[in-house]
Amino acid sequence: MAEEKEVLLKVEHLCQYFKNVKAVDDVSFDIKKGEVFGLVGESGCGKTTTGRSIIKIYDITSGNIYFKGQRIGAGTKSYYDAIKAAKEELRKGNPDASRRAELEKIIEDNKKEIQSAKFTKKNCDKIFAKSLVEKLTEQYEQDKAAAAGDSAKLAELKKKYDADVRVAKKSKLVTKIQMIFQDPIASLNPRMTVREIISEGLIIRGIKDKEYIDNRVYDILERVGLVREHAGRYPHEFSGGQRQRIGIARSIVMEPDMLIADEPVSALDVSIQAQVINLLNDLRNELGLTILFIAHDLSVVKYFSDRIGVMYYGHMVELADSDELFRHPIHPYTRSLLSAIPLPDPHFEKQRVRIVYNPIADHDYSEQGPTFREILPGHFVSCNDAEEAKYREEFGL
Ligand SMILES: Nc1ncnc2c1ncn2[C@@H]1O[C@H](COP(=O)(O)OP(=O)(O)OP(=O)(O)O)[C@@H](O)[C@H]1O
Ligand SMILES: [Mg+2]
Repeated sequence: MAEEKEVLLKVEHLCQYFKNVKAVDDVSFDIKKGEVFGLVGESGCGKTTTGRSIIKIYDITSGNIYFKGQRIGAGTKSYYDAIKAAKEELRKGNPDASRRAELEKIIEDNKKEIQSAKFTKKNCDKIFAKSLVEKLTEQYEQDKAAAAGDSAKLAELKKKYDADVRVAKKSKLVTKIQMIFQDPIASLNPRMTVREIISEGLIIRGIKDKEYIDNRVYDILERVGLVREHAGRYPHEFSGGQRQRIGIARSIVMEPDMLIADEPVSALDVSIQAQVINLLNDLRNELGLTILFIAHDLSVVKYFSDRIGVMYYGHMVELADSDELFRHPIHPYTRSLLSAIPLPDPHFEKQRVRIVYNPIADHDYSEQGPTFREILPGHFVSCNDAEEAKYREEFGL
């Protein structure tokens, strides 16, 4: 087994409902530092919503999101539901004294959870900014001690410290997670030059030095395979692949720890897809980025992802190491996705049988619903007891 790496992002029982639509329903996964996590599933299964919930475009309905160990998102519906159910039982269930005490405790505990979730919502950026300032101050004190007596050096350190603190105080935790959007045309403002698009985030962060900003823009343009002369042009003057590079540049200028790449290559020609994926892979290696890579089919994520999560209608149905998932797909939906990948070998192609997933025929959840279970170490599948037994038998586990 690989050594335990630090968990960078933890998504815990995430629910995101839009009125009656349960776009994401009880999804849990974590992403380790430096990892590429592929999130796959058909159109409408909740991939983009998961990404948007993580970067706090939505107030999540239920569940928790942790980034670098700090809670950045907290929903409250599950707590309100628990309180409601307990109150109902108190009123109608005629509970005995000990059950009554239990229910009252449930109500009290869930009220505390609601308070705590509200506190997270309000204060997570403040807590993050404070920790950044503390780190800077600690470094500054050390540098100051090392430079004792050298007044020019001390003045320079002070100036840098003040500028860094100004930026740190405005820092938001979510700027450390950047999202590259599905549609490279719609996500770039057509009235802004590439320079303005890329530097916008720096300016919002409180950076004012024009020369510094220009140099950062040129540096980033070259890093994503464009040239500095592109800085003065507008998005419509670029090809699809180049536009996606601009989107990537805009994200990495913020020095994120994590990128959420939402189908970054789906709108591109096959020949260009590989280039953009290679660029993301290079950036991952150079910058130590962690990537959540969203795609609707498995072929795109196969070589790029360390682990893959498969979503179906708002649920995570299977999660495993990438190789493991391809070798031992367990959930019938994963198998159907795999059967849809064309192979370059014409003999195989002739034999390839497309498996169609039919949830009603493939599962019997009338007696017991499914839960997300670890069938093999690190390999999770949504199933009930009967299915788990069947899978274990099939795979000789
Ligand atoms: N802002 C919203 N308001 C209401 N419903 C929404 C909203 N955003 C998404 N949905 C619904 O939630 C479900 C999941 O949508 P989502 O965009 O997350 O899917 P997706 O997996 O990214 O699909 P695609 O592969 O087509 O991009 C869909 O049924 C969609 O209609
Ligand atoms: Mg989407």
